[in-house]
Amino acid sequence: DPLTVGIDIGGTKVLAGVVDQFGHVVEVKRRATLGHDVRAVEDTIVELIREFAEDHEIAAAGIGAAGFVDATRSTVMFSPHLDWRREPLRDRVMARVRVPVVVDNDANAAALAECRFGAGVGHRFVLCVTLGTGIGGALVMDNRVFRGANGMAGEFGHVQVVPDGHRCECGNRGCWEQYASGNALVREARQLIAQNSPVAHHLRDLVEGDPARLSGPQITEAARAGDALSLELIADVGEWLGVGLAGMAASFDPSCIIVGGGVSAAGDLLLEPTRRAFARHLTGRGHRPEPPIHAAALGPDAGFIGAADMARSAARRARRTR
Ligand code: BGC
Ligand code: NA
Ligand code: ZN
Repeated sequence: DPLTVGIDIGGTKVLAGVVDQFGHVVEVKRRATLGHDVRAVEDTIVELIREFAEDHEIAAAGIGAAGFVDATRSTVMFSPHLDWRREPLRDRVMARVRVPVVVDNDANAAALAECRFGAGVGHRFVLCVTLGTGIGGALVMDNRVFRGANGMAGEFGHVQVVPDGHRCECGNRGCWEQYASGNALVREARQLIAQNSPVAHHLRDLVEGDPARLSGPQITEAARAGDALSLELIADVGEWLGVGLAGMAASFDPSCIIVGGGVSAAGDLLLEPTRRAFARHLTGRGHRPEPPIHAAALGPDAGFIGAADMARSAARRARRTR
């Protein structure tokens, strides 16, 4: 079986890799998502595919995009974090490279990878969320993503959890991802630094007083080193995550819940508070099996590994119909 490329496009970074049929990563590249510029994002995708193709025999490329992908899996209809609006991403990229290209939602891709190679192996009903810029979501049944009428099911991050809450990048207020995501974590920490809060002394020193310089991974690192505020902020995100997941579990009754995305790098610092809140909020608790909550086994690579795997299936289909 040939190699394929997977590209995961998030709100702040692009993670891409060459992947084999067992989900093993042969090479990885990382880029910044250049602002919201749609053409710059497209150029980055094309460049990455071309660069990988110079060093490897590539059969196809898959793109996991942080946005609402249509039922034909070729057009990104909308993204809260980038300026994709009815963007025919698949055809535009295909016109510029020599391999078949497939597009899907980033969280769908991550979920498929986890179900095939990671924490979801052996489970029939898997609920997967990815915490990065926003919250990505996917419900996988028997290795198939539930897509809804228009391909856009699984946008759990935009379920309202706080009436009149924080304004979301989608335009609404109080969306779940405004409370349980990398953005939420960084927003709270920056605010405390800016307010000169006495509890933010460590983080303030880290960024030499400039809140804008603070990133999510810095908070995770500070938490690991024992910074009380960072631990508290991650636990807050974990708690909101657990509350929301309890609602999702009430709706879909999964046998396993997987948490991926950049923020999941915090591991149990995030997931212990998540599990506690989940157990406290799940409806019917004590009278029903409770699904375990696992960190993504493939970590932040899940998205591009899943995208590469979708590309592999597409390449196979293309060979058969040729
Ligand atoms: C978007 C999703 C995306 C998720 C994670 C959300 O805000 O609506 O389409 O999967 O962020 O990137
Ligand atoms: Na999704
Ligand atoms: Zn929203």
